[in-house]
Amino acid sequence: MSTQLFNVAVVGATGAVGEQIRRLLEERDFPIASLKLLSSARSAGSTIIFKGKPVTVEEAAPDSFRGVDIALFSAGGEVSKALIPHAVEHGAVCIDNTNAYRMDPETPLVVPEVNIDKISDHRGIIANPNCSTIQMVAALKPIYDRFGISRIIVSTYQAVSGAGASAVKEMLRQSSEVLSGNDSNPAILPVSSLPVKHQIAFNVIPQIDKFQENGFTLEEMKMIRETQKILDDDSLEVTATCVRVPVVYGHSESVYVELKNDFDIEEIKALLADAPGVVLVDDPSGQRYPLATDAAGKNEVFVGRVRRDLSNPRGLNLWIVSDNLLKGAAWNAVQIAEYIAIPQQA
Ligand SMILES: NC(=O)c1ccc[n+]([C@@H]2O[C@H](COP(=O)([O-])OP(=O)(O)OC[C@H]3O[C@@H](n4cnc5c(N)ncnc54)[C@H](OP(=O)(O)O)[C@@H]3O)[C@@H](O)[C@H]2O)c1
Repeated sequence: MSTQLFNVAVVGATGAVGEQIRRLLEERDFPIASLKLLSSARSAGSTIIFKGKPVTVEEAAPDSFRGVDIALFSAGGEVSKALIPHAVEHGAVCIDNTNAYRMDPETPLVVPEVNIDKISDHRGIIANPNCSTIQMVAALKPIYDRFGISRIIVSTYQAVSGAGASAVKEMLRQSSEVLSGNDSNPAILPVSSLPVKHQIAFNVIPQIDKFQENGFTLEEMKMIRETQKILDDDSLEVTATCVRVPVVYGHSESVYVELKNDFDIEEIKALLADAPGVVLVDDPSGQRYPLATDAAGKNEVFVGRVRRDLSNPRGLNLWIVSDNLLKGAAWNAVQIAEYIAIPQQA
């Protein structure tokens, strides 16, 4: 670690992602001079222990960023839109986990294993991609570089923690209500701000975020646009169906890709086995493949069920799993923060 120390702010520090950011900053011994933990008025005044010392949570406000060098945002898009301009004005580099700046042409959208070279283009903001996009592009990058990819068809099986800490509580509450024979009384999913709610316990909901005019949900459009931006390839055809499943941690994805060139399946497996941040778990005879329960709590992206499409010799099927709160959010953001703090890594 560098000897230079940084004044760090975590916005949304009391949330599902913020909790993991705090844990990673502590575990990785990030070079911190001072730490601000920011939230809404609801949690302001509460105390969180960081490296054995109590830190009082403060309400995030435009002035909170005076003297801050690095600010990690995970408090929703509206908070990022409202506060990031002030943080940048105060000289902070902002790493944003929300959707607010991802498609802004002046904001790099970074997955360190894929496009860390873009980090130096930033003008005060670096965007963390959507969780389901991060794990897919991390796994596909070595295949894209070696063989080219013309088309991606992805279906996701996304954990409830992707909708925040309150959605996890809601699923656990519903599970016990249903097991007791009571009404599940859904209150949060699929989208807390929309009037219609659906049960997630013992169910599967084919809606993540709001529907767009084109019939896709916002989550699906994020996967399409962000994948093209990260791989810097507008010609890449991507289609997505995003689904919420009653899993607490870890998004799973069935990914079908059409490659531009002929490939050898063993070479694909070797590429995945060597890829940074990727773990190949692919042993059908031993029934070994990535599982959300195994990926939970780990930083890596796990890939298995690697097989050639029987109907298209350039078609490839993969199963990609990662912890949405870690590589999908907190770990990717802390990796970026480490590249800023210790630029020689880049
Ligand atoms: N969960 C994931 O897997 C995931 C992955 C990638 C990106 N993200 C993005 O990260 C963001 C947070 O997600 P999450 O799952 O951590 O949500 P969460 O568990 O609901 O936490 C939300 C956090 O934001 C804070 N907050 C809410 N309103 C605020 C306001 N007006 N001003 C300041 N702070 C405010 C909350 O503070 P209080 O304690 O005061 O309420 C809490 O700390 C979202 O934009 C989400 O899209 C999430």
